[in-house]
Amino acid sequence: MTNSKESFYTTTPIYYVNAAPHLGTAYTTVATDALARFARSTGKDTWFLTGLDEHGQKIEQAANAEGKAVQQWVDEIAPEFKAAWEALEIEYDDFIRTTEERHTRGVQHFFETVYNNGYIYKDTYQGYYCVPDETFFSDEQLAEFAEAREGEGLPSKHEDGNPLCPDCCRPLTYMEEENLFFKLSAFEKPLLDYYEAHPDFIQPDIRRNEVLSFVRSGLKDLSVSRTAFTWGIPIPFAPGHVSYVWVDALLNYITAIGYGSEAPEDRELFARRWPAQVQFVGKDIIRFHCVIWPAMLMAAGLELPQQVFAHGFLLTKGEKMSKSKGNAMDPFALIDTFSTDGYRYYFLRDVQFGTDGAISLERMLQVYNADLANSWGNLCSRALNMTAKYLGGKTPELWEKTTKRLTEEMGNPLAKLVADGLQSRYAACFSAKNYSGAMDVVMQLVDAANLYIEQSAPWALAKAALVEAEEAEARGEDLAEATAPTQADRLAFVLSNVLESMRIIAVLFAPVMPATSAEVWRRLGLGDVLAVDDQESVCIWGGLPAGLETTVGEPLFMRLTEDDL
Ligand code: MSP
Repeated sequence: MTNSKESFYTTTPIYYVNAAPHLGTAYTTVATDALARFARSTGKDTWFLTGLDEHGQKIEQAANAEGKAVQQWVDEIAPEFKAAWEALEIEYDDFIRTTEERHTRGVQHFFETVYNNGYIYKDTYQGYYCVPDETFFSDEQLAEFAEAREGEGLPSKHEDGNPLCPDCCRPLTYMEEENLFFKLSAFEKPLLDYYEAHPDFIQPDIRRNEVLSFVRSGLKDLSVSRTAFTWGIPIPFAPGHVSYVWVDALLNYITAIGYGSEAPEDRELFARRWPAQVQFVGKDIIRFHCVIWPAMLMAAGLELPQQVFAHGFLLTKGEKMSKSKGNAMDPFALIDTFSTDGYRYYFLRDVQFGTDGAISLERMLQVYNADLANSWGNLCSRALNMTAKYLGGKTPELWEKTTKRLTEEMGNPLAKLVADGLQSRYAACFSAKNYSGAMDVVMQLVDAANLYIEQSAPWALAKAALVEAEEAEARGEDLAEATAPTQADRLAFVLSNVLESMRIIAVLFAPVMPATSAEVWRRLGLGDVLAVDDQESVCIWGGLPAGLETTVGEPLFMRLTEDDL
């Protein structure tokens, strides 16, 4: 089967199963979901992959601590992630778990290929390892960290004498093991050449610069197998060795789309999906994704993804939010208070994607009330109420008859805002992963529509239309035959413009707030499913059909107070 649509493959990192889904993992996932939804709405053949990282020493230890068989333990946790993503309306196309057979097969195929290509050799690893981060640290890295800590008057060693992890400050473990090594050093120059030829490969630029200077300072070969434990994927040509968990995990991006399978449908799927368009990661895992991952792909003779985009951290009270610091907020509790759409909107609107962002309940309340309850929600309830009251709950019939004359007479700022490239400004923000900018563009139309209601005062037009009708009746005239626009025409014109804006706003908000956008679509009488695959043409002004039955409904977003927190 051939598909003529442009392929758009996007991924989240796969999450460690030892922690329940939290705001940080939800953040990456919501952002990826919004981009995937946007891509679908512009007609791309979209594929969105997420999943779980289930191997490695950390997971094995966590399961042991619970006294459970590891597979049983990970099987119990996986549904928690799926439930969280469902609650957040995450519309993924595939969910991979690294304990699946398709993944094992692909990882083993990768090891064999890279071994045959001459990039794997055996040696002894002696040095420190961070189990919580599943990361090796070289003596140079530790010395650099120790110097920096001393400069700040802080210890660089744990009381047990082991050095602290330069990333998470937890004590490292000393390791001496026979390992397989990957010749990462052979890729220093090819990587630097690649970064130079593809300036968009690592984004934003601050992360690109960070990676460039790391690679320029020299790459060491990487230990890619472990022999001290067994919870991993066995390496076919090295009995007793299991894959280093990061190599295993990174490969999910291709094993999920058929890599390593000979079946014709898998080969076709792989050809169609790879390389990915955008791979999202947090800034803490950029070296794995921008150095090790592309080198692995080069070693296996595969193409590199078009872009790795790193977002920043969500900070509460100035600190990275994390379970170990006890400052993690529970996504489920927030969804209960703010609704799924309110949640999704806040994180994408209020934090500039790509930089760290301070988040707080107080701020969330403010943004929710201002943008959603008071602006967008209020616009919908006013417009739908007035349509019910003044137009019998139907979208007006008057578009063709009076639009041109009334536009000349009254102007149409909303049509103008849309015609002046609203959708293309919005799409440009999405392409740059500037979610906040995209939401800002849509809010301009929301604000303009609310202002337009104030300025054109439909309630006054309704009153005037009544008086006009009574007067005409007294004169024995039929207003339907009037050649000049009547007050009723003006009223219908104004409400048409507001309802038409709502239609366009619903389409543009849909990638971030799918549920409420679909609800507005229904209330406008446009149907039960809001599914757009040509956003640009759907957002051309004037697409709202006449005679649709509208529904008022409950407020889209209930106003909240501090007592609700
Ligand atoms: N399993 C690895 C990824 C393997 S991908 C081949 C991993 N998993 S993780 O569960 O620790 O979390 C991954 C993602 O959550 C990272 O992208 C990380 O940046 C993100 N976040 C965790 N805490 C965060 C914040 N406080 N703020 C924003 N995102 C952060 O790493």
